[in-house]
Amino acid sequence: MHTLTRLIQLATLSLFLQTVAHAGDTTAANQLQHWSQLAGSAGQAPRGQQFFTQKHGEQWSCASCHGNPPTAQGKHAGTGKILQPLAPAFNPASLTDQAKTDKWFRRNCNDVLRRECTPQEKADVLAFLISLRR
Ligand code: HEC
Repeated sequence: MHTLTRLIQLATLSLFLQTVAHAGDTTAANQLQHWSQLAGSAGQAPRGQQFFTQKHGEQWSCASCHGNPPTAQGKHAGTGKILQPLAPAFNPASLTDQAKTDKWFRRNCNDVLRRECTPQEKADVLAFLISLRR
């Protein structure tokens, strides 16, 4: 009986830990550091802001869906889906899951630039998003 209770406790704990790990396995600051290191130079918020709000030869800018500044809910320019604020100070879940961030950088950069963003562009965008305060 005791063994069974213990097993159930362990299973519950491991499920809980998995959920926590999935909800957030990193921080915005860690991701900024990661991309700055790969770029070989620190992300710069003003450059990130310019990159985020300008179009790059296609129909949309980053701000078309995420808003300008991206501190409130955004709205997908194609589907109308409501998006939670991208700036971490306004949405604690933002930029806390590296796989999710990677996936959306890939998809969104392709939509806006028809290519992947460079490490420097990602570092600049992250520096900009982190610089936005309440
Ligand atoms: C056509 C609409 C659209 C455009 C344009 C767009 N995004 Fe997104 N973006 C989304 C959607 C949808 C998500 C997923 C939101 C969710 O599930 O919470 C997302 C998520 C993200 C995330 C992940 C956030 C996280 O918590 O990890 C990042 C980073 C991001 N976008 C950056 C950008 C950048 C940089 C650009 C410009 C190059 C851009 N986006 C342009 C729709 C867009």
